[in-house]
Amino acid sequence: MAIATASAVPTSVLKPKNSITVIDNRTGKSIDIEITNNSIPATAFSQLKAPYADGERPENDTPYGLRVLDPSFINTAMIQSEITYIDGNKGFLMHRGYPIEQLAEKSSYLETAYLLIYGELPSKSQLDLWSWEIMHHTFVADDLQQMIRQMRYDSHPMSVFISAFSAMSAFAPEANPALQGSDLYITNKPLMNKQIVRILGKATTVAAMAYRIRINRPFTPPRSDLSYTENLLYMMDHMAEPNSYRPDPRLAKALDILFVLHADHEMNCSTSTMVHVGSSLVDPYSCVAAASAALYGPLHGGANEAVIRMLAKIGSVENVPDFLERVKQKKELLFGFGHRVYRETDPRSKVIREVAEMVFEVCGREPLIEVAIALKDAALKDEYFTSRKLFPNVDYWSGLIYKAMGFPLDFFPVLFVVPRLAGYLAHWKQQLDSGKNKISRPRQVYVGKGRRDYIPVEAREERPITGKNGLNAIPHYISKRRLTKI
Ligand code: CMC
Repeated sequence: MAIATASAVPTSVLKPKNSITVIDNRTGKSIDIEITNNSIPATAFSQLKAPYADGERPENDTPYGLRVLDPSFINTAMIQSEITYIDGNKGFLMHRGYPIEQLAEKSSYLETAYLLIYGELPSKSQLDLWSWEIMHHTFVADDLQQMIRQMRYDSHPMSVFISAFSAMSAFAPEANPALQGSDLYITNKPLMNKQIVRILGKATTVAAMAYRIRINRPFTPPRSDLSYTENLLYMMDHMAEPNSYRPDPRLAKALDILFVLHADHEMNCSTSTMVHVGSSLVDPYSCVAAASAALYGPLHGGANEAVIRMLAKIGSVENVPDFLERVKQKKELLFGFGHRVYRETDPRSKVIREVAEMVFEVCGREPLIEVAIALKDAALKDEYFTSRKLFPNVDYWSGLIYKAMGFPLDFFPVLFVVPRLAGYLAHWKQQLDSGKNKISRPRQVYVGKGRRDYIPVEAREERPITGKNGLNAIPHYISKRRLTKI
């Protein structure tokens, strides 16, 4: 941890090279902050305290120390991590030191998951045991199955997935720190490992169930003799074929590569949610439900679904220029483009283009690919997109592959979240194993009303029901109906 020192007067004496000096011009006070791994601790700034300026709001808390404001975490690191590194300027991604291209080509999803979670590639016997454990934790309790079955046929599969994981917490009291003691995962590492294999094992079963509800078919029991992605495809697709039925190995392999590509991506919206929620020491099932909910949004893992809806809306190549014009007028978003970290290229999207061709060979060419290519080519030539460094991200192509493979649109985010569980669990474990877990509790800068006294309702000024008081969000007829009932 970097150490900050304070002095009353800024000096010109030589400072340690690996530090910065910050001068608070309100007071003349300076602090030297050590730079570690090209980062400084935000807490150092809390030493910069000043008296309130004339007329300053007391809610600024100025005498209590300077705050660092970074909405949306544009430049604030939440953790120190040993798991994944992204060089956004070069379009480079590696897990535990291994470049993603090598893992996509040579590894498998379960092996990559082990690497992410435990830090090293497994030996042969470790991999066998790891795979065996996961594939023998695929069954979902009967009563949980019944609960899942109650979901409506048109439920979004992500809603089913999130609900199932949330409920799973109720089915594992032995894994619940609220019941077993708050230090459960700090002290009981075998129990932690057991939850890791249970979560990875059950994820595909729950995913397949979310799909089977959709098509109004009974759930298919998992098969432990198949690979991870084969088993997922089997549970989704098995109907009246003999039990020896196996999904097409080329599609299972393509899905496995996609799973490797999605396994982790450092501090994105959902993984940071996992770390944030996990820091409270709640059980990992609740953490996974929360992280999955964060992934579901269209700006994150829901983008692969949004891309196809966008391409379908564009319809054909000749409509591309009009659509791009609307994007530039900020009337539309170009889904599958842009990234907070990558500024040149997303290395996963290159691999994914190759997987797309693999899948098209088996399933036929997805007709929307022509629109996708024309849209990408036009955007990459347009100054609006190049100047903002916008280019296709992983979701731009993955949706086309999933569509060609026959998955329904709203299942796409499930195919993102299932593999991402490896990354969630790796970060959850890293946090709890670090011995430095502290509850995540961001600060805020309060810009609301100052202190004021309560006014009884009779004494308040009359205001219309619609207008700036926000009540216009409530449909009028409902308020009227409720009033009538009263
Ligand atoms: N279409 C049109 N304009 C865009 C897009 C886009 N997809 N992405 C960014 N911009 C514009 C944005 O409006 C802004 O313009 P201006 O400077 O005129 O205000 C500029 O580019 C900078 O963008 P930003 O808002 O600072 O970017 P961000 O880092 O906050 O957001 C993003 C990143 C991925 C949410 C955003 O690029 C986006 O909404 N993309 C579409 C959704 C998407 O594909 N999401 C999947 C992300 S990759 C997988 C994952 O990690 O989940």
